Amino acid sequence: MSSSAPIVVLDSGLGGLTVVRAMRRVMPREDILYFGDTARVPYGSKSAGTVTQFVREIINYLARFEPKHVVIACNTATALAMPTIRAEFPHLSVSGVIEPGARAAVEAAGNAQRPVIGIMATEATVRSKAYERAVARRRMLSRLYSVAAPLLVPIIEEGRPATDAVVQLALQGYLAPLIEKHVGVLVLGCTHYPVYRELIGAIVGPEVAVIDSADKCAEDVARRLRTNHLERGERGGEEGSLRCFVTDDSPRFASLAERFLGIRVDEPVWVAPEELQGAPAVEVTLGTLALRSAV
Ligand code: DGL
Repeated sequence: MSSSAPIVVLDSGLGGLTVVRAMRRVMPREDILYFGDTARVPYGSKSAGTVTQFVREIINYLARFEPKHVVIACNTATALAMPTIRAEFPHLSVSGVIEPGARAAVEAAGNAQRPVIGIMATEATVRSKAYERAVARRRMLSRLYSVAAPLLVPIIEEGRPATDAVVQLALQGYLAPLIEKHVGVLVLGCTHYPVYRELIGAIVGPEVAVIDSADKCAEDVARRLRTNHLERGERGGEEGSLRCFVTDDSPRFASLAERFLGIRVDEPVWVAPEELQGAPAVEVTLGTLALRSAV
């Protein structure tokens, strides 16, 4: 496996770009391939079988680039698909966002006796109880309260700013039950939500630690690369590239992506869902590509 291979980051839409932003800060030399499944967003209201199939198709498609690591930058896909994907692609280095997010929440809770942790996420992530399990593995004595916020992803994909009344009403409504429970830590359990991080912080108040798993996820990826000696070396002061792929040929992506990333992005490559469905099933090994069957 070559350290100059790219890292794949995938999400249902724009949300995973919050993770890309953190990754570019932590490991600016890495080349990143971002895949936003914009034709099939949201994942949060779909079943485990459907979401797993989407992730499987995306990985099969991007395997041609021989990535050195795949980041499932979507809480929903991490919660619903990760065990199956790890089993189906045993040689692929893959990580998600829930473990780093849970670790950050437990760290933020500090020495509190029985910390009250709130989680705002998609319906599917809440139903999966993946955060509850990940927190309990680190800290038995905590109280966790979760709220599903199904309206937020479509609102964010639509590009509404934090000043929009619809955004403010939705957030106030979703956060009210957590404020009532006096949460001390609030996990943004969907990679889309950090785009409203400031507004969320203002609604819950300064005494609540708001956790965005993007930073922790980026640190986790950097650690994995270091451990496997796969960090991209010095490239004459040049930064790594970012290439985006989307499943809906919408001009909106590039302009909204700029808001998420704080940098200009080139027009994304359009991959029609039918093309994804027809991608050959591949067995990804670190550095080598073996065609398993052409379907
Ligand atoms: N950004 C994703 C997540 O972290 C997906 C949201 C969705 O597609 O519903 O859960």
